[in-house]
Amino acid sequence: MTTAREPARESVREPAREPAGAARERPPGGRTPPCHLGEAQFQGGPARAYRDLRREHGAVAPVLLDGGLPAWLVLGYRELHYVLSHPEIFAHDPRHWAGWDDVPPDWAALPGVGHRPSVLRAEGAEHRRRYTAIQDVLGAVDLFELRARAEEITDDVIDAFAGRGETDLIDSFAHRVPALVLASLCGPPEVDTAGLVHDLIVLIDDGPDAAESHQRVLDRLRWLLADRREHPDDDIVSRLIAHPAGLADEEVVEDLAVVFGFGARAVAGWIGNSLRLLLTDGSFALDLSGGRRSVMQALNQVLWEDTPMQVVAGRWATRNTQLGGQRIEAGDMIALGLGAGNADPQVRRGHAPDTQTGAGTSANSAHLSFGHGEHRCPYPAQEIAEVVTRTAVEALLDRLPNMWIAVPADALGWRRTAWNRALTALPVRFSPV
Ligand code: HEM
Repeated sequence: MTTAREPARESVREPAREPAGAARERPPGGRTPPCHLGEAQFQGGPARAYRDLRREHGAVAPVLLDGGLPAWLVLGYRELHYVLSHPEIFAHDPRHWAGWDDVPPDWAALPGVGHRPSVLRAEGAEHRRRYTAIQDVLGAVDLFELRARAEEITDDVIDAFAGRGETDLIDSFAHRVPALVLASLCGPPEVDTAGLVHDLIVLIDDGPDAAESHQRVLDRLRWLLADRREHPDDDIVSRLIAHPAGLADEEVVEDLAVVFGFGARAVAGWIGNSLRLLLTDGSFALDLSGGRRSVMQALNQVLWEDTPMQVVAGRWATRNTQLGGQRIEAGDMIALGLGAGNADPQVRRGHAPDTQTGAGTSANSAHLSFGHGEHRCPYPAQEIAEVVTRTAVEALLDRLPNMWIAVPADALGWRRTAWNRALTALPVRFSPV
């Protein structure tokens, strides 16, 4: 049984390397006052917000994040590529930010933006050492076994609501399956991962308890690490401990927290957004009874059109530079508009699939949803994400083939966050089984 200690309330915030001084007077950009990114997205949906911003500012737009904090939103595919390929100019460590003095301690975006000693924020040789270890350990996961386990887990999850004839697929399905499957990478079924699963679900839900549950996830991982040091097994915790990179204990814990927390949340969004597409877009309905191709097509279409991680924080400019015709100053924050980059008309015209007709969506994976460059989502992690998402969606459609959405499609609510694209609920009905 895992025994989580009371979470230690440590701050993710680190002092700025260079004091920022007084709040900045210049809004980044300067042509028109920057718009509040979250509000613009909530009003007409992200696609419209990105289109308006692109029309007004071009490929790089000045925006205000939660709490009115300024950042540059990179909307252009080519510009994103450039930023992600030049870590020496656009660094990963948020301590480069000149804006820390303006950040309130309860800033909603702090958990995603603040510094943590994890692979996500590591740079240079340290990053390469940790990234290689994660890549190797995830690469050793047997995808056939994983698929079989994901099928079993998905079946159990469906059993819990299949007799009721109605459910909310976000709460009862999309949040549960990835938490359960990813936690199962921690060890054989007899290992009690119920606590970890519970905390991952709270984390995915992103409610007021998310920060506490992140602390509990870290505590549970510390417990698992101590256990696996004594009793190594065939699981990712033991393999990360034994990796020749020789990670320190806290490095193992922090990086596993990224794998579980970051991974589970992204997969939950991918499952939810794919189910919405499949249930609301009539063009998929015909194929669904016939074959698997359309599920993969829907999954890929979501990564182009409705990617779960719309905006990733971030990068921080290490020196003055130009980007997309804007003047970026050292210490500015760069928010990566991955969802906007995927919709960039410059690439959509030439290479991207036609998501109206579906042509090319299943094969073309040149989207930026998994990032790019040295911090891109490790390839084995992408494979794991696809196995879990595809297995979950296919198993659900197999078990409940006559499922329909219980509210008008345009009444579905989205989470009020600029960073993620995730439904608050997806109510469905079906014949009880
Ligand atoms: C739909 C599913 C997923 C999406 C869309 C996604 C997307 C991303 C993106 C955009 C990044 C780059 C962040 C940046 O450049 O700052 C990233 C990094 C990462 N992802 Fe994923 N991810 C997914 C699933 C997963 C899963 C299932 C795992 C683990 C099993 C995982 C593990 C990681 C790790 C460890 C990193 C950090 C890489 C680094 O900073 O060097 N991801 N992911």
